[in-house]
Amino acid sequence: MTSIHDLKDKVAIVTGAASGIGREIATQFHALGATLILTDINGDGVQAVADGLGEGIIALRHDVASEADWTAVFAAVEARHGRLDILVNNAGVMMASPFAEAGIDILRRQQRINVESVYLGMQGGLPLLRAGLAQGAATTAIVNVSSIYGKVGGAAFAAYSATKGAVRALSKAVATELASSGIRVNCVMPGPVATNLSADWEPPRDADGAIIPPDVALAAWAKLIPMGRLGEARDIAPLVAFLASDAAAFITGSEFIADGGYTAA
Ligand SMILES: NC(=O)c1ccc[n+]([C@@H]2O[C@H](COP(=O)([O-])OP(=O)(O)OC[C@H]3O[C@@H](n4cnc5c(N)ncnc54)[C@H](O)[C@@H]3O)[C@@H](O)[C@H]2O)c1
Repeated sequence: MTSIHDLKDKVAIVTGAASGIGREIATQFHALGATLILTDINGDGVQAVADGLGEGIIALRHDVASEADWTAVFAAVEARHGRLDILVNNAGVMMASPFAEAGIDILRRQQRINVESVYLGMQGGLPLLRAGLAQGAATTAIVNVSSIYGKVGGAAFAAYSATKGAVRALSKAVATELASSGIRVNCVMPGPVATNLSADWEPPRDADGAIIPPDVALAAWAKLIPMGRLGEARDIAPLVAFLASDAAAFITGSEFIADGGYTAA
């Protein structure tokens, strides 16, 4: 019987692995036996995560919006492993701003980091994912981290919502096209999770224009969640591990929400 607690013999790239959800995915993948390539624009941070997990883990500074950086990542994976079984497109940024004040650069930056990254990663990873299948993998998997704000509106997150909605549509299109090949593509859609993501915010402001401190904004979010708490990275990582594993062999083009009931209410 295939266990979800088994990623051994799987070579996996996790982007945005220096922090938050990506770091937890890396930690759980490692515990499940995966061979890891961890990347992040924060090169020192991702090296520290790799060092903390153990030996034999490749850690790379990687701007996911850069095609050249993706090429370098795949070249490193090719040289060391000659195959890829799992690609987790997790790296992302979230910028808050009232829509009336949100200049086009806010959309463009998030478009590059949240969407173009996924496009480049999925496309560039195909030869190595195919090599994984040729070398005997039952399935290979791409897991893209979208957000519930790609499904429901988030006030002051118009541009972020647009990018996360794009990740959903992009994932479904590619999943459909690749379905017969053995390469599966799925999305996870976390609700509000306590991570460093808010560090990238233009600080949210109240109706009078005063800055709302991040802890106040996060506490307000928690009140909107039927479970009464923000998510933790460990609430999201097991879902990613399941979708990455062969236990999810019949699942592609699907979306999975982990949000404490936020979007059910
Ligand atoms: N935290 C939440 O509430 C929440 C909710 C839904 C979805 N998400 C999504 O989860 C993913 C992970 O976010 P998180 O909450 O762990 O945030 P985080 O800020 O803790 O981690 C994001 C990581 O991505 C890295 N990163 C940023 N820009 C990058 C770039 N250009 N290239 C490579 N790496 C880059 C950062 O250095 C950081 O290590 C994101 O895609 C985010 O949109 C988060």
